Amino acid sequence: MLKDVEEVVFSEAQIQERIKKLCEEIADAYEKKPVLLVGILKGCLFFMADLMRKLDIPVAIDFISVSSYGPSTEKTGAVKILKDLDTPIQDKHVLIIEDVVDTGLTLGYLLRNLKERSPASLQVCSLLDKPDYRIVGIPLQFKGFELGKKFVVGYGLDYQGKYRHLPFIASLKKEICPL
Ligand code: PRP
Repeated sequence: MLKDVEEVVFSEAQIQERIKKLCEEIADAYEKKPVLLVGILKGCLFFMADLMRKLDIPVAIDFISVSSYGPSTEKTGAVKILKDLDTPIQDKHVLIIEDVVDTGLTLGYLLRNLKERSPASLQVCSLLDKPDYRIVGIPLQFKGFELGKKFVVGYGLDYQGKYRHLPFIASLKKEICPL
């Protein structure tokens, strides 16, 4: 797997350092209010686990799994819920945890869907933000890093189901991933 890596874009240490700062921002924003972290599967896996362990406020967790119709390279905006939340979110402070926001179509759909369930508040935290790919505007209250038009894997992010387990975020060699 390491032989497929072209360049480490964010190292393990950089990611952990950024998450520490992000947790301070989140704790300040929510004061001591309990927050429900809603992870978007599967990419949120490591980010959510590391973030919640560094957050000094009361947190509960839930997960939602969505899939865009058609291959992810041909996003249409139509999103299907594969696994819904286990619990109602009415009157709860909900913070959506994403690994990356590209077009914003997934989050756009989720924000509309979750808003209808009357949470006390609804905000978004994404490790990566790729604003150059944006199709729909998304309020992104907390973000780890901004990236240009670059395809990256690792720390939860995959290419064709692989490379999620890498502890850092990296680009792949062109012969492996032409994106
Ligand atoms: C990724 C990511 C977001 C979505 C962002 O998920 O986790 O949910 O794409 O893209 P968008 O802003 O263009 O909608 P993916 O479909 O790759 O699923 P995964 O998390 O299971 O890898």
